[in-house]
Amino acid sequence: MLQWKELYEECSRCNKCRLGDTRTNMVFGEGNPKAKLIFVGEAPGADEDRTGRPFVGRAGQLFEKGVQALDLIRERDFYIANICKCRPERNRTPFEDEAKACISHLRNQVALIKPKIIVCLGATAMKYIIDPSWRITRDRGKWLERKGCYLTCTFHPSAVLRDDSKKILLWRDLQAIKTKYDEIK
Ligand code: URA
Repeated sequence: MLQWKELYEECSRCNKCRLGDTRTNMVFGEGNPKAKLIFVGEAPGADEDRTGRPFVGRAGQLFEKGVQALDLIRERDFYIANICKCRPERNRTPFEDEAKACISHLRNQVALIKPKIIVCLGATAMKYIIDPSWRITRDRGKWLERKGCYLTCTFHPSAVLRDDSKKILLWRDLQAIKTKYDEIK
């Protein structure tokens, strides 16, 4: 199994899909690689592509406000990454071949982190990690267990930026995630 540094280097060199041609920076992920909780988003946006860090733009700042209110700190309590590590142009949804090419990197990361809880932020992460037949508006907040790991999904924070009525639902889901986090030691 690849170790963390090798995995990082492999991702930095990756050209398995066309997104490798247009990225400024590969966005590997960030946080505590020993955390029991991992959040997975879709793909880097402009701010993430520029800085090489996940969830630092407007959506990321909204997300950080929510988790920090629950005393969940990125460097200490969770890891955060995306289905795709390179930015799709104009922030379009990643194509299926791009997501499928990149998810092997994420699987390698998850194999090393061994989280107890995986939270999919938005429909793209939900589709590739949980179940393509799930619908985010119908199934957000549900939990399932796979090999001792709990999985759930909630709205992507950028969906909340577009539709304020989703904010309370994201907040409730984050509260439930924190409850699960506190239960699992
Ligand atoms: N949206 C995502 O899905 N991921 C990021 O890192 C930033 C915005």
